[in-house]
Amino acid sequence: MKDATYSTCNATSAPRRSPSPGAARVTGLDLSLKSLEEARQIAADAEQDVDYVHANVYDAVDALQGRQFDVVYTGKGALCYLPDLQQWAKVVHELLKPGGALYLVEFHPLLTALREVSLPGESDDLTLRADYLEGRGAIAHDSTVSYTGDEVPGRQRSYEWHHGLGEIVTSLVGEGLHVTTLRESEVLPWPRWPAMQQTPEGWWRLPDDAPRIPYCSRSRQPGRRDSPTISGSRDASRPRSSRCAPVRAGCVPRTDR
Ligand SMILES: C[S@@+](CC[C@H](N)C(=O)[O-])C[C@H]1O[C@@H](n2cnc3c(N)ncnc32)[C@H](O)[C@@H]1O
Repeated sequence: MKDATYSTCNATSAPRRSPSPGAARVTGLDLSLKSLEEARQIAADAEQDVDYVHANVYDAVDALQGRQFDVVYTGKGALCYLPDLQQWAKVVHELLKPGGALYLVEFHPLLTALREVSLPGESDDLTLRADYLEGRGAIAHDSTVSYTGDEVPGRQRSYEWHHGLGEIVTSLVGEGLHVTTLRESEVLPWPRWPAMQQTPEGWWRLPDDAPRIPYCSRSRQPGRRDSPTISGSRDASRPRSSRCAPVRAGCVPRTDR
């Protein structure tokens, strides 16, 4: 009997692609009322019983009334909206039961640093065009479409933060989480660049003569043979102040904007 929460859940992540398929109880948390409305509809259509909570992830401990979970899931374009990863890691720590696991699936920071989209007249060559490392504050994006590709009224400004792999892992380790595996992959679930070719498993990767660099990885789930992960384990015997919690994480690509 598992109790799982999806922080920054968005409309799509729960319950259809549960990283905790054995969960007896699933709770989704998101800042966006619209996302929660869609998520509730998806859950109802799928006849899944999911509790949805409207809150900022930084307020999740209070919003979830001090409940603790066997699995905390987050990712796929969530960390980029969080300016302070140390504070986020504290929240994750507070949400986990002893022996619980964080399941983190996230875009690889290198993918963000590489060209996200070709500008008119530019080639699709992979060139660095943005910071890989954190530290220069918020990046403002003005766009007529959201990260899902949907039109938004007028132009919308959003802010994101770069987080290098070192910052992400160190923020979790600093809270006592124990990282046991960190996997990176060159495959994406969609053809980000035109040269990408589909693998027999349905993923997309650049041809063999292209550099092998990580764009994407994804948490291992039962039955998924090629799903890369970061994973870890929390030592339930340690006191809460110094306990270890498992981390399972990987990276997936971000949507073009
Ligand atoms: C790209 S989506 C995440 C996708 C989802 N986790 C998945 O696996 O498909 C980003 C979500 O994070 C939510 N979000 C951004 N900042 C947040 C915050 N501070 N607290 C809670 N949710 C937040 C947004 O409302 C949005 O629904």
